Amino acid sequence: MSGEEDGGMVAAMERLIIEGGRSLEGSVEVHGAKNAALPLLAGTVLSAGDCVFDGVPQLVDVAVMLEILEQLGAQVRREGGTLTIAGGNVDRGEVSEGLVRRMRSSIFLMGPLLARLGRVVLSYPGGCAIGPRPIDLHLAGLAAMGARIHEDHGYIHARADRLVGAAIHLDFPSVGATENLMMAASLAHGTTWIRNAAREPELVDLANFLNAMGARVQGAGSDCVRVEGVRELGGVRHRPIPDRIEAGTLMAAAAITGGEVCLYRVRPEHLTAVTSKLREAGAAVEEAGDGLRLRGPDRPRATNLRTLPYPGFPTDLQPQMVALLSLAEGTSLVTENIFENRFGHVEELRRMGAQLATEGRGLTVQGVERLSGARVVATDLRSGAALVLAGLAAQGRTVVEGVDHVDRGYQALEETLARLGARIRRERLG
Ligand code: EPZ
Repeated sequence: MSGEEDGGMVAAMERLIIEGGRSLEGSVEVHGAKNAALPLLAGTVLSAGDCVFDGVPQLVDVAVMLEILEQLGAQVRREGGTLTIAGGNVDRGEVSEGLVRRMRSSIFLMGPLLARLGRVVLSYPGGCAIGPRPIDLHLAGLAAMGARIHEDHGYIHARADRLVGAAIHLDFPSVGATENLMMAASLAHGTTWIRNAAREPELVDLANFLNAMGARVQGAGSDCVRVEGVRELGGVRHRPIPDRIEAGTLMAAAAITGGEVCLYRVRPEHLTAVTSKLREAGAAVEEAGDGLRLRGPDRPRATNLRTLPYPGFPTDLQPQMVALLSLAEGTSLVTENIFENRFGHVEELRRMGAQLATEGRGLTVQGVERLSGARVVATDLRSGAALVLAGLAAQGRTVVEGVDHVDRGYQALEETLARLGARIRRERLG
């Protein structure tokens, strides 16, 4: 996957050209959250009615998920900012291998399809640029609910006449496993408890969506989620929560350029770990309603960082923070606790003059006074964002290749940044 879903997708060769050294100024609205939208879209498979969404971000990963839903038999309609999914006709329990390869999040369909159709065949989603990313917790949870699962030639086959409620303890608070099991349990017979559940806001958004369809999910956002199964779920209208990772990326962009930026349509309470780290790094952050204002420091201060499940500091913002800390006064220690291999940005940032040393899951960032523009390659979604940020602050021109990774999770990032005064443009090759 690209940070996220690094499939074998062949995108047009595109790159971003950045002339660095300009402070970001101004205000922008944050888009709907990718990591809320993907499970929400998968959840439409559970509904016998129409699901109408406002504000779903226009991202490559969302487009792939819509293609999968159509392949399963759903009708998908986009009109202006509204997206309607009629899942009433979903009758295929099989997603083609090509689509699973293009997006790892297709695993989210496993629980809903099994609950709705009683059968599912999915090719095994492989590892990705940020680590091996197993799905054992998803499968063990579904098996505890009565699914009969076997693997054959890289495909997972699962069957269940009707899933039954179960008490499930997750070894790790996996976001995707909690979401998958929550969806499956919504149509199961009886009550399911998911303990050591993930607590991410995107999962709470999914629970609210399911409950609006008629599900009975309680406790989402705590480490114990209780789901009482119902026979059928109906239609719903829903707007995904604002993207806290896009917001955090833009905050880091303002901070690294010493600029001043206002973000609208954010939920500051989802960003407290980020806000607090940015303040430690010397930024001034003010919260007001659904807005955030950040003023960057003249030079960032070093600070240590450990990624953790929510409400800890998000792994999806670690690379962007590393870009910022590369320019800090002093030495920072960064520990990546969620993914095994989320340091794809390190080597590329070094090309720009950053002084970084990795050891296992730890990274030492020895701050330098300046970065210089270079030709760099994004290997996954968030490392791509980190390189863009470094390019905004660097002296001279930076060329970021591998932009298809960035497009999976940011809607026209260069347009958002250009609106804030960045000199950045996309170049299509060939
Ligand atoms: C979600 O991935 C996000 N994706 C990721 O967003 C995010 O980085 C991650 O949560 C952590 O916050 C979506 O929401 C679509 P996990 P997910 O299951 O659900 C291990 C981005 O950049 N694990 O919480 O796949 C796993 O290997 C991205 O937008 C198992 O061991 O994450 C990892 O080390 C990328 N077995 C850890 O748990 C399992 O069955 C956390 O993974 C499942 C997970």
